[in-house]
Amino acid sequence: MRVLLIISGGIAAYKSLELIRGLRRHGAQVRPILTKGGAQFVTPLSVSALAQEKVYDDLFSLTDESEIGHIRLARETDLVVVAPATADILAKMANGIADDLATTALLATDRPILVAPAMNSRMWAQASTMRNMELLKANGVMTVGPAHGELAEGEIGIGRMAEPADILAAIEAALGGPLTGVRALVTSGPTHEPIDPVRYIANRSSGKQGHAIAGACARLGAAVTLVSGPSNEADPPGVETVHVETARDMLDACLQALPVDVAICAAAVSDWRPAEAETQKIKKGRRTNATSPNLELVENPDILATLGARENDRPRLVIGFAAETDDVVAYAAAKLASKGCDWILANDVSPHTGTFGGDDNKVHLISRTADAPRIEEWPEASKVEVAARLAERIAETLGSAA
Ligand code: CTP
Repeated sequence: MRVLLIISGGIAAYKSLELIRGLRRHGAQVRPILTKGGAQFVTPLSVSALAQEKVYDDLFSLTDESEIGHIRLARETDLVVVAPATADILAKMANGIADDLATTALLATDRPILVAPAMNSRMWAQASTMRNMELLKANGVMTVGPAHGELAEGEIGIGRMAEPADILAAIEAALGGPLTGVRALVTSGPTHEPIDPVRYIANRSSGKQGHAIAGACARLGAAVTLVSGPSNEADPPGVETVHVETARDMLDACLQALPVDVAICAAAVSDWRPAEAETQKIKKGRRTNATSPNLELVENPDILATLGARENDRPRLVIGFAAETDDVVAYAAAKLASKGCDWILANDVSPHTGTFGGDDNKVHLISRTADAPRIEEWPEASKVEVAARLAERIAETLGSAA
């Protein structure tokens, strides 16, 4: 992968050094262009040391015989990334202004462009910046961020450059991967089933595994819809995230997302909900005979089983999780059949494993075959690693079935 990285003048330029490091770790060739403004924040020496490439900063030195011309510089790459992208460079790009090497390369390139805007929140919200962003998007320029958070001047708002890891994810997705063209649906997190306006039934699911799977599929190029119950996890970059509360809302959002090629149900959906959610808070002393309320529960729809049983738009691959505390593999294999899915990832959620809410997971992948289910033990790994392995396995399977 070859990236032409344009660093323009913003305080976030220091984060671009980490981006270069991340890109190099991924085996990318990084050719850096440092604008005059960018050079106020990071030195050409640190940029070239990390990129292990010459830093380009002057349009006219490129006409030198010994140098690569600016047209070649703009085209001998798979992607052009502008990070940080200031309001100024975005305005020039939107209007076709080419008055230095960076903007000339941007005008001359025939490669996809990804920008990571970074500026003060007022500059970002300004009508002119918004208009420029609309123009750029309409011209096919991809964006990542800006994020909400603390800005250089100590203000809080939208304008921070996306974190290097998020830019890296956007770069990988922009360059396409083995899941390019694949539509994926992922459920994640718990559901909240209201008892009254202030109380609900929930479980300990954090959403870490499901969110990691959505992110991993997007990184391999899939168009991902993540339907998430209440979770503290951030929306993964490059993923369309739909936030829901209850199992019934989660089912509706999943059906809305169809058709998809693959569905991965990682949510810990509440199996039951109160038959009737009270519209007012249930008060202790006010019940007719002042006894404790009896919660009547009814079963929730099973989202995984519903997706597995769709007639005309069943995803080609339906994947569930089985959270068990004992006889993990046997119970999970039974679920494979009862829920009509193709694969089940079985995990032990006994309290001693720390799986619920924790960062690691130990799973068995159980897949349906013509004979007995095939069981594969995966080594204990972080939820992010499990997600990456699953996404790759999905890519292999859908690729070979295509
Ligand atoms: N699941 C779902 N909808 C439900 C219940 C579960 O989509 N109403 C999905 C989960 O996302 C998971 C799989 O079904 O992929 C298995 O969930 P699990 O909680 O292990 O199984 P249950 O069906 O709830 O069965 P039990 O609690 O009896 O083990």
